[in-house]
Amino acid sequence: MSYYQVKNLEQYFKHYNKSIREPRKFWDKIADENFTWYQKWDKVVEFDMQEAEVKWFLNAKVNITKNCIDRHLAKRGEKTAIIFEPNDPKEEAQHITYNELYDRVAKMANVLRDQGIKKGDRVCIYLPMIPELAVSVLACARIGAIHSVVFAGFSASAVTARINDSDCKMVITSDGGFRGSKSIDLKVIIDEALEKSPSVEKVLVVKRTNASVNIKEGRDIWLQPLLDAAVPNNVAEIMDAEDPLFILYTSGSTGKPKGMLHTTAGYMVFSAYTFKNIFNYEENDVFWCTADIGWITGHSYILYGPLLNGATTVIFEGIPSYPDFGRFWEVIDKHKVTQFYTAPTAIRSLAKENTDWVENHDLSTLKVIGSVGEPINEEAWHWYNNHVGKKRCPVVDTWWQTETGGIMISPLPFVTPTKPTYATFPLPGVQAVLMDERRNEIEDNQVVGSLCIKFPWPGMARTIWGDHQRFKETYFTAFPGKYFTGDGALRDEVGYYRITGRVDDVVIVSGHNLGTAPIEDAINEHPAVAESAIVGFPHDIKGNALYGFIILKESGESRDRANLANEINQHVSSHIGPIAKLDKIQFVTGLPKTRSGKIMRRILRKIAEGDYSNFGDTSTLLNPEIVEEIKQGKL
Ligand code: WTA
Repeated sequence: MSYYQVKNLEQYFKHYNKSIREPRKFWDKIADENFTWYQKWDKVVEFDMQEAEVKWFLNAKVNITKNCIDRHLAKRGEKTAIIFEPNDPKEEAQHITYNELYDRVAKMANVLRDQGIKKGDRVCIYLPMIPELAVSVLACARIGAIHSVVFAGFSASAVTARINDSDCKMVITSDGGFRGSKSIDLKVIIDEALEKSPSVEKVLVVKRTNASVNIKEGRDIWLQPLLDAAVPNNVAEIMDAEDPLFILYTSGSTGKPKGMLHTTAGYMVFSAYTFKNIFNYEENDVFWCTADIGWITGHSYILYGPLLNGATTVIFEGIPSYPDFGRFWEVIDKHKVTQFYTAPTAIRSLAKENTDWVENHDLSTLKVIGSVGEPINEEAWHWYNNHVGKKRCPVVDTWWQTETGGIMISPLPFVTPTKPTYATFPLPGVQAVLMDERRNEIEDNQVVGSLCIKFPWPGMARTIWGDHQRFKETYFTAFPGKYFTGDGALRDEVGYYRITGRVDDVVIVSGHNLGTAPIEDAINEHPAVAESAIVGFPHDIKGNALYGFIILKESGESRDRANLANEINQHVSSHIGPIAKLDKIQFVTGLPKTRSGKIMRRILRKIAEGDYSNFGDTSTLLNPEIVEEIKQGKL
């Protein structure tokens, strides 16, 4: 009996129970039967959840790209691995076979080695959604360099912070990138970012937009001539199971982004297993995940998960509204996509448009449709189910995080009956629990609590780069011995989970995880600002939008408020990126603070939402009168 694929509900319960009773045997069998290893493990797992120390497949030797590419060549060499669909539909799509992918990754890996990159070095990848992004990621993994992909929508100072945090030796970027009707000059952003990044020795530049770029002698090199000169053969580095594979930054509730570190074997096993099951992947399916590879969703479900299963995966450079609102549906029709995976914010924005945009395309190849990144509201769920899935395709509402490496709670299509807005059951191997305020595990159903995971799973992040203490404090201290997700959840009468949202200071805007602290830091740097507090409030399309309460310095008092608000938003854009812009700004004279000086965000959240009914206990406030004033100012 194999555990790699769950075929029906009865089997789900069987596998789930096995994975709880004998997690070692469960993962041992999956790892043993579905991957190519240089050497197998001595021990399946070793952990101390108090100390946040976890290791999987101890002493095993492996290279993830051998599993993503080489082992498929005999049977699937001429099969398409990657379909590249450019931003402009008039530009021809590219079909890259597994054989071609091997050649391209091997050449790129040789270029990286020639340029002095060795196992363990960090390489920052700042590229648009083009094949070179996939090739760069895989080439790093091939030679054991740790990739740190930074979403190409981040501003120069956000890039600097990420490069410096992990001392990247190299940056791979492009002249620019296309996004809808715009093009963005990425190299200009990198030039600015590198003014303050002393660790970077080399910058490889991909040509995409033909924008004119500044080439700094001795540092910057056009990539294509190097690739042309490279040989299409490469011996993969032999990696230990726990050698780092990549760093991916995610926002925290304090200022500095957290470089989540994922290691090799556990991540490989978990991303492959979850992909196979959650998307009911079968040979010859065409899988399309619309995320950017700059986020974990793109890492696990555009690249690693699909390629580990020998799948055909679509890389889409564009946006859902360009050249028109039919773009997603046109691409599904054109490439005969069988699984489609996107975010609620995209669904909501397309649901606003005429349904003809969807109806005019043939979506009959679809069999599973998925959602990720934030809670999907009932209306969006039904629209997706009715108009895209035609009530035929199970909607998989997948809950997970950058930290978890892969999907944790989700229906399995054709296995778990779906329920709108519910992520339903945890996957086999995922021991989800709800905790009450007294830190006790809640056994009953029909309850809400803090969502924790009480046993390690192979895909979990192992640490925060350079700061294990912070890793421990952020995830393993609130509920000692358990991994705390930062999310709240409800469990219904049958044990289905519904994620209710963050219980910390992270706000999810259009599926992007934004910490409020870094945004506040950026705002506070504006010369007219004394202090600020950011909260999220519900937004029809974005899920949440940002609301800023801002106290001005005396010098700012006389300034025109609309101008100031614009300036502050430009400031946020240039420090973090346009995704962090505030939708509403209210200038206030004070913020509600506790006696220990902590801003009481729950009150601000209520005001931002327009709910003035019950502010709860305000007796610990130092300045209770400010609440009324802020409320009046908003009305
Ligand atoms: C939220 C994205 C509800 C959640 C893969 C989580 C969700 C955070 C869902 C992680 C979902 C993700 N339903 N909420 N299906 N999926 N979230 O690290 O708050 O970018 O903690 O990973 O997104 O965001 P991240």
